[in-house]
Amino acid sequence: MEHLATTLIHADDRDNRVPDVAPPINVSTTYRYDKDDLVPWRDRESLEFMDKRPIYSRLAHPNSTRLESLFSQILGGHAVVYNSGLAAFFAALIHYNPKRLFIDQSYHGCRAIAHILTRTTGMQQCSLDDVPQMAQPGDVVHLESPVNPLGTVPRDMSLLAEQAHERGAVLIVDSTFAPPPLQDPWRFGCDMVMHSATKYFGGHSDLLSGVLVTRDQQTAGALRDDRIYLGTNVANLEAYLLLRSLRTFELRIQRQSTNCTAVVAYLNDHRGDWPLVLDKLYHSSLQTGEPWVAEQLEGGHPPVFALTLRSIDQCKRFPQLLHYFQHATSLGGVESLVEWRAMTDPHIDQTLVRVSVGCENAEDLIADLTTALNALQSDP
Ligand SMILES: Cc1ncc(COP(=O)(O)O)c(C=O)c1O
Repeated sequence: MEHLATTLIHADDRDNRVPDVAPPINVSTTYRYDKDDLVPWRDRESLEFMDKRPIYSRLAHPNSTRLESLFSQILGGHAVVYNSGLAAFFAALIHYNPKRLFIDQSYHGCRAIAHILTRTTGMQQCSLDDVPQMAQPGDVVHLESPVNPLGTVPRDMSLLAEQAHERGAVLIVDSTFAPPPLQDPWRFGCDMVMHSATKYFGGHSDLLSGVLVTRDQQTAGALRDDRIYLGTNVANLEAYLLLRSLRTFELRIQRQSTNCTAVVAYLNDHRGDWPLVLDKLYHSSLQTGEPWVAEQLEGGHPPVFALTLRSIDQCKRFPQLLHYFQHATSLGGVESLVEWRAMTDPHIDQTLVRVSVGCENAEDLIADLTTALNALQSDP
C-alpha cells in the first residue's frame, strides 16, 4: 500500500492539465465551454464533469479539484473542500438539518454556529451525555477530538458512535487537532470527518480552508451541490497554497507532534520549579489512565497543549517573555504560537494559555518556555 508521504505528493497527478511540475495558480473565475461538449445543466447526471472542464470557480476550479483528489485519498473517503473550517461545519449541519445537536466542549466558533442555527431554526442543543436517552433518528452528535484548546481526548469515540447509531443519529468528528497519521476517526465508527485545513494541512498561517469527508459518494455529491449555492468553495489562491503545503504535511505534523510531546513531558517533570506560576497542564500525553487515548491517537499526540497560570497578570506577561512563541491566535503553523485564550474565547477559564508547537527545535522551545517561567517565578 502507498504511504502517506507519497500520496501527498502524487494523489492529484491524474488532475494534471499542463506539463508544469508545479500546478499553476488559476485566477480565472470562469472557463470557456467546450464546443464539442455542449450538454445543458439539466441533462447532467452528476457534477463530476467539472473535474475535467470547470465552469465557474464557485462550483469547482482546477486546484479545488486537485485538493479533493488528494484529501479523498489521505483522509480515506470522499472529500469536499470549503473556504474555512467553520464553513465546513456549517455545511455539515445544513446537510443533516438535525432537530437536536449533541455537543460539549468544542472550538467556540463551532458552538457559535450551533447558536445561529438554534436562533434561526430552533435546533435544540444537548450534551454528549444525553445521547443514549435523548437522541432521535436524524439528530447529529458532534465530537471534537482532541479538543481545542486543551489538546486532550474527552471521550471514547467508539462508545459514542455506538450510542449515536443505536438511536439513529450520526456522529461527526472534528479531527483538526489530530490529522493523519495521528488519528483515523473512521476506525471508531464515525459518519463524517471534518478538519479545519487552516491548521496543520495549511501549516504556514497563510490560508483559510476546511474539509468534510464522507463515507459515500452520494453524501459528498449532496454537499457539493449545496456548496455551489452557499458560495463556500475554497478560493483559487488558497487552494494553490494549500496544495503546496500538503506536499510537506507529513514532515511537519510528525515534527510538531514529537516536539509538543517532548515540551509537555519536560514541563510536567519540572512543574515543581514554578509553584508560584504554573497551575494546571493539559495534554493527551498526560491522560495515562484513559485507555481510549492511546487507541485513538495511534500515530502520536496533538501538537497543542494548554496550561493555566496563577493570575491574569501572569497570563498577560508570559507571552512577552517568550522569544520563539509569538502571541497570536490559531495553531498548526510551522511557527510556535502562544495565546492567552481569553483574547478570543469568551467562555474559557480566564487564566488559560494555549500553546501551539511548531517545527522549531524542541530543545530551543523548552529553553524559551523555561526562561519565561523562571522569570515569572522570581517576580510573580
Ligand atoms: C477544532 C477546530 N475546528 C474548527 C475550527 C474552525 O476553523 P477555521 O478557522 O478554518 O474556520 C477551528 C479553528 O480554530 C478549530 O480549532
